[in-house]
Order: sequence, then C-alpha cells, then structure tokens
Amino acid sequence: MHKHPTALGLATTLLPVQPVTLTRPHAARRAARFFVEKFPGRSIYAVKANPSPDLLALLWESGITHFDVASIAEVRLVATTVPDATMCFMHPVKAEEAIHEAYHTHGVRTFSLDTMEELEKIVRATSGATDLTLCVRIRVSSEHSKLSLASKFGADPSELRQLLIATRQVSDALGICFHVGSQAMSPAAYSGAMERVRAAIVDAGVTVDVVDVGGGFPSSYPGMEPPPLEVFFEVIHKCFEDLPVSYSSELWCEPGRALCAEYSSLIVRVEKRRGEELYINDGAYGALFDAAHIGWRFPVELLREPDSNARDMAFSFYGPTCDDMDHMAGPFMLPADMKAGDYIEIGMLGAYGCAMRTGFNGFGSVDTIEVTDEPMVSLYTEDQHRVPSNVVTL
Ligand SMILES: Cc1ncc(COP(=O)(O)O)c(C=O)c1O
Repeated sequence: MHKHPTALGLATTLLPVQPVTLTRPHAARRAARFFVEKFPGRSIYAVKANPSPDLLALLWESGITHFDVASIAEVRLVATTVPDATMCFMHPVKAEEAIHEAYHTHGVRTFSLDTMEELEKIVRATSGATDLTLCVRIRVSSEHSKLSLASKFGADPSELRQLLIATRQVSDALGICFHVGSQAMSPAAYSGAMERVRAAIVDAGVTVDVVDVGGGFPSSYPGMEPPPLEVFFEVIHKCFEDLPVSYSSELWCEPGRALCAEYSSLIVRVEKRRGEELYINDGAYGALFDAAHIGWRFPVELLREPDSNARDMAFSFYGPTCDDMDHMAGPFMLPADMKAGDYIEIGMLGAYGCAMRTGFNGFGSVDTIEVTDEPMVSLYTEDQHRVPSNVVTL
C-alpha cells in the first residue's frame, strides 16, 4: 500500500481521478488501546463494522484478542488473518452449516442465540458439545441510539426465562448479551439495558458467567457529539458491579464503530456544481450509504492549495451513479467558492462506510492509501477536531 503524510498533500499532488480511501492505522491503534486499557472488561471487535484484513491485524497487535463474527465468511476471514484470535459468533440467527464449520473447523466456542430453535440448532451442529459459551440475547430499548437494533433480535420476554434455563443446562458458560443500538448518545442506554439483565437473572434464577453489553459505543459526527467514552465505561462498570452475579462473571463488550470510525476517510473529486449541489465521484453505493439512506452527516474538508478564503455554506452531494437516490442531503459545510475539480475529504468513514462499498454502475474502484496525519475528528485525543469549522451544527 502507498503511504503519504497528509490528505491535503495527497490530493494536491496526485490529483486522483477515482475516489481514494485513506487509512490511518495510528487512529485505530489509539482506539484499540483505549478500549483495552479503559473498558472494565473484555473488548471484542465487531468485524462487520470494517473487515479490512489490515485493520484486523493492527487491532490484534494493539491488544484486541477477541473478534465478534456474524457470518461464516467473517469466521474464515478472521481465521486466516489473525489465526490466534478467539472468535465469538454473535449473530443470533445462523445457518446450521455455519455453526458446524465454525465449531468443528475453526474452533469457535462462543455463540449467541435468542430462540429455542437456535439453541437446538447449536446443540445439533456442535454434536452436543459440552465446551460452549452460549450468550442469550435479550431485547432492549434503542431509544438513546441513532440506529435502532430493537426490533430484529432479542428473546421474546415471554420465553426468556425458559430459554435461559434451557441454555444453562447445555452450556459450559452462560452469557446474557444485548445491543442498545448503534451510536448510543447517552450512557443511560446501557444502564437501562442492565436493569433488564438484572430482571432476567432474578426471574430465571440462573447463574450467569458472562454479561456482554454489546456494541453501540458512539463516535463523533457533525451534530452528534457524545459524552466521553470514559463516562459510558463508568456507568457500565457500576451497573455490572451492582448485578447479583458480578462476583463470578465476566464483563464483555463488542465495539464496532468506536474502534474503527476514525480509521478511514475518503477523498472525492467534485465533477460538477449546480448551485448548492456538488456532484462527487462517490456516493450511496460507495462509502456513503449512511449519508444517503439515513441522512447521516460526516465531517468534510476542502483539500485545495492555496486554501479558500470564502465563507462556508451548506451543500448537498450527488453520487456518481445514474440514480436519483444517490443523493446525500447533508448539509455539508464547505467554502462557497467550491467548483468542479476540487477535492474533498469526507471523514469518519472507517465504520460502516468503506465496508459497504459496491461496484454498482461501474463506480466503486478506489485506491487505498495510508496517511499519517490526524483524522478530522477524534474521541481519543485532547484536541478532538482537526478542522473545527467543519463540525459546526446548523
Ligand atoms: C451483535 C453485534 N455486536 C456488535 C455490533 C457493533 O455495533 P457498533 O458498531 O454499534 O458498536 C453489532 C452491530 O450491528 C452487532 O450486531
């Protein structure tokens, strides 16, 4: 992979025709060390957020030893990229063949489930194994999160007691897990969910060996600036200590976004300007799915030398495909003299951005270049914003 010191230098010297994915290994290392040192339990990286092999390897080198996988392809990827890592297969609905291969071929011992049928599937696929850690996923509210995960998964409250008791009987270690939804903006998300955990333990009268608070840890985006992660960790720790099983159980979390959002950004070129609309060469079918489909705003910065002196104004973006839906409403704050040929860096695309790229319409071919400058926004540095003017909320 090529290396370059800065996004600005890269854009202004290479003048790339295709979008360029920038990676910042130092930012991912910093996030990993933060979780490893400060989360009061085990941090398991949720591979779906960004399955780049380079990222998996550097997280491993930075002390992340456990990986949350959701498909057999992710199991195989982790098995080949970081062969000594421990995998946890945390998708509550799995193909029986996937469980079989994960257990028998790749040594996976931790699985999640939210129904009796899934429990039976796991028992069958592992040939009645007695060395399993089985995590029952409970349904919790997503009210504090920007992306809900409250409807699709989680045991039905009326079946939870029976499911916990049955799972206890076939597991070596029993866990309870949940997901508060992605980009949780308040630690109250976790305290509310931990109350559900307490109620489930008391109601079922089972001993629990693992409490897994899932993902949801936020990153910083324009208009979405969360409290420090330390505050989330303190609240989780306190709630965990208050559980009747804390003396004998382990605390786990499964961060995706928070570990990799700062790892990648994107350089795009403006191909056309129409008033307040910029036609750029990446979009909804590229790394900007969330910007298009859920109106997510990302930090942006003009990469031009000399820099513009014009005041910022609000722009929206059109992506390169022949599709009206390839539109990102923003608003994205950029200098009023933006024009075709300008380059823009779009930040914070390391999580659920670069990983969701497609090749639709012949677009989507990107170079990946490592840079050593700071990400546009960071939760892990004193000086959180590289470019303060770009994170202003309208
Ligand atoms: C089971 C599970 N764990 C962890 C994550 C990671 O969540 P986040 O990226 O919000 O931290 C997800 C995301 O969907 C998930 O489904």
